[in-house]
Amino acid sequence: MSDHNNSAPKSFSHEKVETNNFLLIVLTLLVVAVGGLVEIVPLFFQKSTTEAVAGLKPYTPLQLMGRDVYLREGCYNCHSQMIRPFRAETMRYGHYSVAGEFVYDHPFQWGSKRTGPDLHRVGGKYSDEWHRIHLNNPRDVVPESNMPAYSWLEKNKVDDTVVAQHMSALRKVGVPYSDEEISGAAEQVKGKTEMDAVIAYLQVLGRSVK
Ligand code: HEC
Repeated sequence: MSDHNNSAPKSFSHEKVETNNFLLIVLTLLVVAVGGLVEIVPLFFQKSTTEAVAGLKPYTPLQLMGRDVYLREGCYNCHSQMIRPFRAETMRYGHYSVAGEFVYDHPFQWGSKRTGPDLHRVGGKYSDEWHRIHLNNPRDVVPESNMPAYSWLEKNKVDDTVVAQHMSALRKVGVPYSDEEISGAAEQVKGKTEMDAVIAYLQVLGRSVK
């Protein structure tokens, strides 16, 4: 039983902490910070979160440019790329997402907004032609769809002058592109449309885990 006549020195008593706003705020922040660090810091050193899963390849130049189109067009506003380990999700989308699948994604596209379905394992689900028709006008293949049409992607050419720089920047943060891959990148995307690029990107999503 504790009471206020206790002999505990006043400077360490709960009463002191709970009646001093400043002290309470500082100590609360300290507790939250320690709790956060204990949970977050180990993730930077665990193999399962920092190493690529077997079979994961860096994006090809065309896929990378498609990923840029995906970001520019804000596809992430309606689509997540993170299958959670729940039965309802794995039955609908396939194997749940694992951290090692995203180590070459800077930044990752996990998201949480799902106006449309999760896209993490959409790679290989449809043909390129299906995606072309769908992106041109989703209603042509899914009559009830409320996804916007992206018909201009077919008309825009990929900007081949930026892809090499983009790859060198990614190499600085750990994506293992070789010098040859970087110097040959512009050639690979020359003449391709943004439609080609975004389809190439969609078709590789989530395919490194069998
Ligand atoms: C306003 C919300 C919205 C935006 C923005 C959006 N989508 Fe969608 N998307 C949907 C909805 C809803 C569906 C489900 C109906 C359908 O298939 O059209 C869908 C379906 C899809 C599918 C089929 C998924 C499957 O498993 O059947 C793909 C692929 C897709 N979207 C790609 C994209 C891409 C790429 C972009 C950006 C260029 C994009 N979406 C932007 C709402 C959106």
